[in-house]
Amino acid sequence: MTALATATNAPARSLWRFAEGETQLNHGSFGGVPVAILNAQQALKDEMEGDPVRWFCTLPDRVARARVEIASILGVPSDRLAMVPNASAGMSVVYSSMAGRERINVMTTNHGYGAVVMGAERLARRTGGHSAIVAIPLGASDEDIVGRVDDALSSNPTDLLVIDQITSGSARLLPTGKICDVAHDHGAVIAIDGAHAPGVLSEPVEEKADFWVGNLHKFWCAPRGAAVLVRNNPDLEVMPLIDSWGARDPFPARFDYQGTLDSTAWLVSPTAWNYLDETVAGPASTITPRNWPPMPSRSSPMPSPGTASAHRCLMWGIQSGLCGCSRSPAGQGAGPGITTVWMLCACRSSTPRGLHWPSPSSRARGICAFPRTPTPPPPTSSTWPITGSPSWPTSSESSE
Ligand SMILES: Cc1ncc(COP(=O)(O)O)c(C=O)c1O
Repeated sequence: MTALATATNAPARSLWRFAEGETQLNHGSFGGVPVAILNAQQALKDEMEGDPVRWFCTLPDRVARARVEIASILGVPSDRLAMVPNASAGMSVVYSSMAGRERINVMTTNHGYGAVVMGAERLARRTGGHSAIVAIPLGASDEDIVGRVDDALSSNPTDLLVIDQITSGSARLLPTGKICDVAHDHGAVIAIDGAHAPGVLSEPVEEKADFWVGNLHKFWCAPRGAAVLVRNNPDLEVMPLIDSWGARDPFPARFDYQGTLDSTAWLVSPTAWNYLDETVAGPASTITPRNWPPMPSRSSPMPSPGTASAHRCLMWGIQSGLCGCSRSPAGQGAGPGITTVWMLCACRSSTPRGLHWPSPSSRARGICAFPRTPTPPPPTSSTWPITGSPSWPTSSESSE
């Protein structure tokens, strides 16, 4: 296996600060920030601490400039894109914008990211609506997936459909454009969780979606705290989760200033994108607009055609030394589908519905130690609808 080199012929791995002897297979969950980008962010933090008053007074303008640049890289009109701290926050913005209405019926799939699905189900409970889950078999064709969503929407009046673009537990690239068409035919708003798409897909933003969110801290390699919310439907008003001075501004400027939040991850995100383009050698990639080399071919067959993009990108990571396999959990490479699951989300179980983390192995390593109420068990039925029963959250939130 040939390791990927930088333009100066150093191993690509040397651009990151992974601990000696430690390799990281799972880039999809928490990303990994190149040292140069950490340094660039630190320089901004130093500037902030050097003169906090000047920093925060000029911050909205700087964020606006970074936002416009990020929108241009993503190929989105800048008046549609707002900065948010992470994909979860972006989806929470969508949910909270609908929370004032009555009886919001939501629909998700059994491949949805657990926390995002929980948020949608909570929205339904809070407003007196119901939630349904479309079961999508791992090997389903695009046509089958669209048909299943269509059938589910026909039987379940739905206000909000939440779909992943690249599913994290199962690494499927879902046919989002056709799903958007179907959702709109049924009068549903559609929000797409594209957390993994920036840096993986050449055209990551699904322009047919009412809302789309993407993380920049994953395959874009920006510092954590950088994500975007794209609103393609101007009729749907959204507000930042934090009420601050920008609240009177139009979208998306109202998201530029979130009080004293540390926005350095947003400011350095364009630099992160450009840095990898300039630093990693190789011919133009067929996958991303970056100047990254073509993805190496995989020794075993792809789980399905739809997973190819994410999968090839991950394989690039492994070969480059950005990802590796020193701690592969035993038994998780059981089949093609499961191998992919593990690469994208090594510290979660591979159960399609409900991502249970921290996993026993990550707990043993002392990471992902979030206090958690139990995640609802995976559905046993392979058919829809599975009407959500309010098994989460527990009593502390029951007064909502
Ligand atoms: C599909 C998907 N959506 C959302 C998230 C949440 O990302 P964040 O914790 O940065 O909000 C993840 C995280 O891995 C994910 O895989």
